[in-house]
Amino acid sequence: MADPRLERARQRLTGLGQQHLLHFADQIGPAALRTLLDQIEALPLEEMPGMLAQTQSMSAPDPDTLEPVPMVPREGTDAAAFRTEGERLIREGRVAAFTVAGGQGTRLGWRGPKGTYPATVVTGKPLFRVFAEQLLATERRFGCRLPWYIMTSPLNDADTRAFFKDNNWFGRQAQDHFFLPQGLVPCVDADGRAMLASPQEVATNPDGHGGAIRALDRSGALQDMANRGIEQISYFQVDNPLVRCVDPVFLGAHLKSPNSSGQMSSKCVGKRNAAEKVGVLCQVRAAGGPRTTVIEYSDLPKSMAERRGADGELAFGAANIAVHVLSVAFARQLALGQGVSLPWHRAHKKVPHVDQATGRTVDPDKPNAFKFECFIFDALALAERSLTMQVQRVEEFAPIKNAEGEDSPASSHRIQSDRHGGWLERAGAQVPRRGDGSVDARIEIGPLAAMEAADLQGRPVPRQVQRGQELVI
Ligand code: UD1
Repeated sequence: MADPRLERARQRLTGLGQQHLLHFADQIGPAALRTLLDQIEALPLEEMPGMLAQTQSMSAPDPDTLEPVPMVPREGTDAAAFRTEGERLIREGRVAAFTVAGGQGTRLGWRGPKGTYPATVVTGKPLFRVFAEQLLATERRFGCRLPWYIMTSPLNDADTRAFFKDNNWFGRQAQDHFFLPQGLVPCVDADGRAMLASPQEVATNPDGHGGAIRALDRSGALQDMANRGIEQISYFQVDNPLVRCVDPVFLGAHLKSPNSSGQMSSKCVGKRNAAEKVGVLCQVRAAGGPRTTVIEYSDLPKSMAERRGADGELAFGAANIAVHVLSVAFARQLALGQGVSLPWHRAHKKVPHVDQATGRTVDPDKPNAFKFECFIFDALALAERSLTMQVQRVEEFAPIKNAEGEDSPASSHRIQSDRHGGWLERAGAQVPRRGDGSVDARIEIGPLAAMEAADLQGRPVPRQVQRGQELVI
């Protein structure tokens, strides 16, 4: 007797021109077939033609319409007022932290979830612990609860949850953690046909950090936020141990600055040089007024990347550090597609797949398929007005992305020591520095001891740090 579930899938796929996904259905055995059908039922195959058409008609913004983005410095004249406003919001329990941690950490070569990577200079605290301790310190300071939403991917969700459980949620309340796996989208060939990675599995990829919007909605996280009275989401990537997970000054500016509509704001640092591999925050001139956007380094023409203003600084020098605040209302609007939704981007990639004739896996030597992703920063252009806050790199940005070179554990450790050495100096310590100004010691200050320089004021700190010393506070 025909399997009704298989028949339903066959009908659906035939209607979509994707029936080849069941080519091996009769050969793979009942358990594998169940897995395949589970996957097929969950995939947004109906959306593929629309995604292909949308990305085909998409063009990079015309460089002539781009202009530098106005920036509000974090240490500007309004900082105290912004801080007061942000602290009020945190104290009232209206803020949630949100980490996108669905990436696979391939460039770093780390086998587990990236958040489990030992990131700090001396004690090697994992990234998740660094963030958890900041949230704990903030909760203690303001007597509030800070729920933490963590976007995983189906590939690392179980390991991520297990890591938190094994670490007893780092001393925070278990119920203040909400894990939400992001969606997967099929990889398709030039004709829009989805591909099989094996006889029992469709080739897929995670739907990008922009998939966070769908995942927040589908998982019930947005509803959970509403139930808890959360109004603003503090968004950050998993790879940056210096991120301020919940920054009162940024939150206050997002709410109160005239540059902000209160929908979505960003932080940036000055680009180190024209070639640095970061996205750049800029503005696109548009009919209804300029809109903020991020142009990835690969899409920014060299002439623009190198252009300098009258002050000698890079004209397009606002490096995106992928730290945002989004209102829950805006996230909901995006999720429901109420006049605004995130566009898809596609990349032409090499995707191993199964040859239907032989059943063997083909490892292509040139790109053979499109992968689709959404980017969270595309939401910036959908906000009425979007604030860009400039912060100091040494205080807030030392990502770990590559095994060596730029944005590696070694480069991050140097910046972490520079930050913490600077804090100790401001508290009265003598700290050894090299000729290039960097701190010549390995210094780690945990979030539970201090989250910014001012937290060390009036506290006992070593009077002198020795050259090459390892120090933990
Ligand atoms: C990203 C930004 C870049 C910015 C830089 C700052 C993009 C396309 N570019 O580059 O503008 O200057 O960070 O560090 O984002 N992630 C998911 N799910 C996914 C894909 C990614 O959760 O499907 C998460 C990763 O876990 C990571 C973050 O998003 O936390 C960034 O991902 P990645 O694709 O590595 O972007 P970068 O090249 O680091």
